[in-house]
Amino acid sequence: MSTSQPQTMSGRDHRPRILLTAGPTHEPIDRVRFLGNRSSGKMGLALADSARRFGFPVTLLLGPIGYEPDLPPEIGLKRFTTADQLCRLLESCWSEHDMLVMAAAVSDFAMDPSQQLAGKRPRNSDGLDLHLVPTPDLVATMASISRPDQHVSGFALQESSDLEQQASRKLVQKKLDAIVANSLDTMDSDQVHEGTILLADGTRLAPSSSGPMDKDSFSSWVLQTLVEDWRRKTKSPSNPSA
Ligand code: C5P
Repeated sequence: MSTSQPQTMSGRDHRPRILLTAGPTHEPIDRVRFLGNRSSGKMGLALADSARRFGFPVTLLLGPIGYEPDLPPEIGLKRFTTADQLCRLLESCWSEHDMLVMAAAVSDFAMDPSQQLAGKRPRNSDGLDLHLVPTPDLVATMASISRPDQHVSGFALQESSDLEQQASRKLVQKKLDAIVANSLDTMDSDQVHEGTILLADGTRLAPSSSGPMDKDSFSSWVLQTLVEDWRRKTKSPSNPSA
């Protein structure tokens, strides 16, 4: 990935410019079939709406959720289908933003380019072997090219049994500022059943109300918490941008 010219906010505007990703990716197998996942994009759409209600400039990179959402004009919308397209959008948008919240469910694998077909694979009674190759870890790449005044967070959707251990491992491995840990029940649902935020300094934060929350209330809490963490990070005396 290429880095663009730094553009800091200092002395200009203290409302964070938020870049959000949401929805699944579809990785083509041939002209009609794809590898996808069940992400509905609801969490990312709720986050975009929370950002708008707080008055933060927001860009939403939205995957193939099966319909065109009716969004207010304050939300800058850009669409992607594949992980590769999302990667290019992130590259072109990131330098203009202060926070990245990566709620998209990016496919971990895509078809080996040498196996991609322009047409439709015929039915074959012997079965079909697909050779898949790993996609780049986009949020980790973005974290690695971020400026000290930028904040990068991801989502970890895991089984309840080891939700926070796995989220914490991903937070460290991907070198993120924060990760939102969500139980698998959240996928495709209007509610969040278990949701916490882990910060890079080891802090664990949970919403004040216990039990399932609707995605609007949860996303508003997530956004406020992440923005506070960005403010803390950029004001820290050890941060060269402070
Ligand atoms: O798939 P995984 O559990 O590792 O996803 C955790 C975080 O990493 C999510 O925020 C997801 O958007 C991000 N991710 C990514 N690129 C990938 C896979 C996941 O940015 N190829």
